[in-house]
Amino acid sequence: MRLLITGGAGFIGSHIADKAIAKDWDVAVLDNLVSGRRENVPSAAEFFECDIRDSSAVEQAFAAFKPTAVSHQAAQASVAVSVREPQMDAEVNIIGSLNILSACVAHSVETLVFASTGGAIYGEVPAGIRAGVDFAPVPISPYACSKFSVEKYLECFCIEYGLKYTVLRYANVYGPRQDPHGEAGVVAIFCNRILAGESILINAKRDVGDAGCIRDYVFIEDVARANIAALEGLIPDPILNVGTGQETTTQQLAEILQRETGKTVEMKPHDRRAGDIERSLLDGDRLIELRGPLVSINDGLQQTAQWFQQRLNVSS
Ligand SMILES: NC(=O)c1ccc[n+]([C@@H]2O[C@H](COP(=O)([O-])OP(=O)(O)OC[C@H]3O[C@@H](n4cnc5c(N)ncnc54)[C@H](O)[C@@H]3O)[C@@H](O)[C@H]2O)c1
Repeated sequence: MRLLITGGAGFIGSHIADKAIAKDWDVAVLDNLVSGRRENVPSAAEFFECDIRDSSAVEQAFAAFKPTAVSHQAAQASVAVSVREPQMDAEVNIIGSLNILSACVAHSVETLVFASTGGAIYGEVPAGIRAGVDFAPVPISPYACSKFSVEKYLECFCIEYGLKYTVLRYANVYGPRQDPHGEAGVVAIFCNRILAGESILINAKRDVGDAGCIRDYVFIEDVARANIAALEGLIPDPILNVGTGQETTTQQLAEILQRETGKTVEMKPHDRRAGDIERSLLDGDRLIELRGPLVSINDGLQQTAQWFQQRLNVSS
């Protein structure tokens, strides 16, 4: 396997790169380092510093590396940024993705795995329901629209050019290497602040003082494993949810993390954040059926908190 990972210097892509190298695959990472970090790229991987919006640079990277498989993780990955800058979101997430899809066709890539979003595509998931892949998408942010468009382009490219693909719709992914300084990634933000003894905000689901939004938190190890399985052809479905089906409120998350770190900090009730979905929960049964049990939220958060603690120890 010759695997090209777009966005491989980022949180999720770099874990996929580690797993692929452990399998002795030839790996290349294509990334413009806008949010990714060069040190996340394993030394055994080739690196192309390249913007997916630049079709000729993408073409050159494909011609040089000659991938047989592509893991397309590069994206403008923030809902909030997409609301502020919808054109930029579309340029990266739609036009950039089309450059990758076209290069896959031109270079006869055998399989493409696309990082989509279950957290944003399904919109509000009513109480008592878990969104399966047959749940009608309600993309209410520019980010969700751009991800859903690429899913549709993949259908077209499959029919028109025979491009084989798997769409993985991730829930809220967390784990080591997630950026604690962005607007997204509440687990990373909380880990950083709790370990520093700083207060944390519980943004309201609806009213200030409630337990906060409900999310499906999935550990990076399970996400990376699902990606590798898809690349190996072990996921027969064109679209698969990568989530746990377990709901967790922001407050519960904060409590587990304080328990795991042994630190107690002030939890400040805060207003609802504009644009936040109140409840997002995926049906992850098919993933479990195909790939076995997932890491529990307690174990995943424990490993994540340990990683952030070690990082803090190294830097102090
Ligand atoms: N983290 C989550 O909870 C989550 C949930 C659903 C979907 N996703 C999707 O998973 C993928 C990976 O997300 P992540 O959390 O690892 O984010 P990340 O920001 O850590 O990684 C994205 C990577 O893409 C690179 N990139 C961005 N724009 C680029 C461009 N124009 N050209 C080349 N490289 C570019 C960044 O430098 C970064 O390394 C994204 O497609 C994201 O939309 C993530």
